[in-house]
Amino acid sequence: MIKINENYLKLQSSYLFSEIAKRVSAYQQEHPDKKVIKLGIGDVTRPLPEACIEAFHKAVDEMAATRTFRGYGPEQGHGFLREKIAAEDFQARGADISADEIFVSDGAKCDTGNIQEILAVDIRVAIPDPVYPVYLDTNVMAGRTGLFSSGRYDGIVYLEATRDNAFVPEPPKEKVDLIYLCFPNNPTGATVTKAQLKAWVDYARENRALILFDAAYEAFVRDDSLPRSIYEIEGAREVALEFRSFSKTAGFTGTRCAYTVVPKSCMAYTAKGEKRPLHALWNRRHTTKFNGVSYPVQRAAEAVYSKEGKAQVKALIDYYLTNAALVRKEISKLGYECIGGYNSPYIWIDGKTDSWAFFDMLLEKAGVVCTPGAGFGRCGEGYIRISAFNDLEKVEEAMQRIKQALNAD
Ligand code: MLT
Repeated sequence: MIKINENYLKLQSSYLFSEIAKRVSAYQQEHPDKKVIKLGIGDVTRPLPEACIEAFHKAVDEMAATRTFRGYGPEQGHGFLREKIAAEDFQARGADISADEIFVSDGAKCDTGNIQEILAVDIRVAIPDPVYPVYLDTNVMAGRTGLFSSGRYDGIVYLEATRDNAFVPEPPKEKVDLIYLCFPNNPTGATVTKAQLKAWVDYARENRALILFDAAYEAFVRDDSLPRSIYEIEGAREVALEFRSFSKTAGFTGTRCAYTVVPKSCMAYTAKGEKRPLHALWNRRHTTKFNGVSYPVQRAAEAVYSKEGKAQVKALIDYYLTNAALVRKEISKLGYECIGGYNSPYIWIDGKTDSWAFFDMLLEKAGVVCTPGAGFGRCGEGYIRISAFNDLEKVEEAMQRIKQALNAD
């Protein structure tokens, strides 16, 4: 008899963004004339930077000629891209990361979801609340949790991010083995200081723990005092992996390119306490289960680091940051407390009511899609998240509609 992985039965009925899509689609069927404005999932709307498009076209043309055609590339990514990443994203900021510590992939979602495969099942996992659901769900699937009750999975150490700690959790008093952190944060938009991040690195070193640092939104950091990489913190190379993506940085959500940094000095342990480099394990996993990102996509990603590419990416991020500032300003004017929206594309809003009810109300009355905070965890109850990833005119219209809906309420 074929048996299922029963851990899947512990999962909540559907992935957050699928549930939202289902509700939006039902609304659209009932109101075919209403134009819905989507500020829910963080999906970009602006075209790829011109430098990326040019490099993309050129690489596609190379694939059309026998002399320049390419088949499989290295699973870890082409040298031309890994070298640019190491030099520009890390070494230029004083972070000691080399090209062979970069693993190019098709997304930070896949990498943050897959990475736990190389770790034991019986480890103690600390996960923020609220959180990007992928970290939690993939640990449930792997069997690292008990059942779900009262909005929490048994066995997980929840790191509460609330108004009391300005949405930046401190290391727990108890001992944990694996820690997920994301800054600038999804969903709250909160940022972390170097001192706060150092406390986590120190904790991980003292407890022989591992930090998984999701820096998918680092390009939105405009305050130079804030860290953009965990490797700006001394000692992080021994205890942290970092996840980055071209999705939100350069508009690659539909193009797919990201990378994971696994420093060679980052160790984990066997049951007997022997040190093993995670680099070798992830390399084994990556080369077994992944055949690399397509060549034209890697050329397009490489162009992000050209002079033109850098200027175009900056303009793209500035565009979304302008939207974020507008959302923050308008929603604050309506009397709602906002977190994020500076150095971040997400605005976390205290809706002062049940978050799915607020979601439904905005959809019904304003035709605007947000993300209900409760979908990110128990501490998200009462909040909604608005994403700045859309065209400015649509964000302006959404703010007008929300104003009317809330004033009429
Ligand atoms: C989000 O809206 O939280 C993100 O777009 C999800 C993702 O990047 O997978």
